[in-house]
Amino acid sequence: MADLRAAVIGLGSMGANHARVLSDMAGVELVAVADADPARVAKATHGRSLPGFPGAQRLLEEARPDFVSVVVPTGLHEPVALQVVAAGASLLVEKPIAATLPAAGRIAAAAEAAGVVLTVGHIERFNPAVRELKRRLSAGQGGRVLQVKARRVGPFPHRIRDVGVIHDLAPHDIDIMRYLLGDEVERVYAEAQRRINTDNEDIFAGMLHFRGGCLGLLDINWLTPTKERSLTVLCEKGMFVVDYAAQSLAFYENFAASAREGGIASVTEGPMTRYPIENREPLRVELESFRDAVRAHAEPEVTAADGIAALAVAEALVRSARESAPVMVSQVLAAP
Ligand SMILES: NC(=O)c1ccc[n+]([C@@H]2O[C@H](COP(=O)([O-])OP(=O)(O)OC[C@H]3O[C@@H](n4cnc5c(N)ncnc54)[C@H](O)[C@@H]3O)[C@@H](O)[C@H]2O)c1
Repeated sequence: MADLRAAVIGLGSMGANHARVLSDMAGVELVAVADADPARVAKATHGRSLPGFPGAQRLLEEARPDFVSVVVPTGLHEPVALQVVAAGASLLVEKPIAATLPAAGRIAAAAEAAGVVLTVGHIERFNPAVRELKRRLSAGQGGRVLQVKARRVGPFPHRIRDVGVIHDLAPHDIDIMRYLLGDEVERVYAEAQRRINTDNEDIFAGMLHFRGGCLGLLDINWLTPTKERSLTVLCEKGMFVVDYAAQSLAFYENFAASAREGGIASVTEGPMTRYPIENREPLRVELESFRDAVRAHAEPEVTAADGIAALAVAEALVRSARESAPVMVSQVLAAP
């Protein structure tokens, strides 16, 4: 039996997926959808008794959902999220939490004051390959992590106009690195360029320094004719490789380290193991996790603080690229 009423605001390429997944989720009834574009509303509601609205306000007043997926363009997260919170509904705001840190802070503060559950759509946390990697790292399989490297490249998405590739894509990998390491980024350096006719950067290379000393590397752009989403975690005892899209996880053993406990004596090539992963759609796992948090009124797996931390690193990367200088994340967080 469905005990939670869900709604989706924004039915573009990501919002349509939220509506699809929520349509057949146990314990949930999708009670309404909204989009500023009537054609998108018509497409989502065609052939079913699902009320569609032109915007957030009427949806919230008439459908009274318990929780809402906010999947409008990033620049509109703040006004729509604040409307949802004012209506007393819990909310999943797509990543990045907002276009600016002050906006993110206002969303988080409003949700806390209203006592609603707020999560951010850092979907890769719910990728089964990432979860298995986290489990293995936590069990100490690789030993100390030396470097994490993410590559997230693909063609230019013409629909995204309000933010650059750093805000749009880097939060995915920044969040995963923070999650896997259980550590925060202290300092960043980035080089970014704008090659296609938009107002923002569309290619960048970023270096992250974590407080605990681990190095992070981000190779992210919208200028690559084939899609690639990968993560490499280099540890003392070997190297994990995740293909996010294929949901695969492999471990390349450092034979010298496994032969001798303690620090890195040397590095030699050992056997490679590919682990079996039970594939699941990350969006479904994410929304199930959020549903459970709303029902229990519990802290969600991805908190507002996680969303703000990822955005702060993205903002530091943008500033670093603009100033051609390293930037401390604390500087960005302290800025008025
Ligand atoms: N987690 C992920 O993997 C992932 C993937 C893609 C996009 N996203 C995020 O989802 C959000 C939407 O991205 P998208 O790619 O779906 O964009 P999109 O442009 O395809 O869709 C946005 C939709 O919002 C609608 N809209 C605009 N203003 C509105 C308003 N005031 N009220 C209601 N609807 C409104 C538009 O008509 C459009 O249909 C962005 O924040 C993006 O970063 C996340």
